[in-house]
Amino acid sequence: MIGNLNHVAIVVPDLNSASRLYREAFGADVSAPVDLEEHGVTTVFVNLPNTRIELLHPLGENSPIRRFLENNPDGGMHHVCYEVTDIENAIQHLAGQGLRVLGEGKPRIGAHGKPVVFLHPKDGIGTLIELEQV
Ligand code: CO
Repeated sequence: MIGNLNHVAIVVPDLNSASRLYREAFGADVSAPVDLEEHGVTTVFVNLPNTRIELLHPLGENSPIRRFLENNPDGGMHHVCYEVTDIENAIQHLAGQGLRVLGEGKPRIGAHGKPVVFLHPKDGIGTLIELEQV
C-alpha cells in the first residue's frame, strides 16, 4: 500500500549548523530556510537523489515540535513520511488493522500542500509515521 519514502524529518536545535553539516560535510543540495507559519516550523530541505531530508526548527510559541526539542535538546529524528495514492483508503485500511490514526483519523493539508495524516508512534515500532497523498 505505501509507496516511496517522501522524506525523513529531523528536528534540529540550530538550522544554520545543521544546514552546514548537510551542505559542507555531506555535500548535499540544501535549500534556504522556509518559514511555514501555519505549521509552526521553519524548514530546510535537503534534496537527495531519491528522497529528501527535512530539517525542522520550531517557529512560534505553539510550535508542535517545541516539546520534542525540549526533550531532545541535541535534536533527533522526528518522523518518516511514506507516500500513498489514496489517503482515505489508507486510513480505512490501517484503522482496520488496529493502528491509531491521529487527528481523529481526518487528513489535513500538510507542509507540502497535500493531504497528510500521522499514525501513533506506539503502533509504528516507536516511530511517528506520516502518510502523504501524492
Ligand atoms: Co513530514
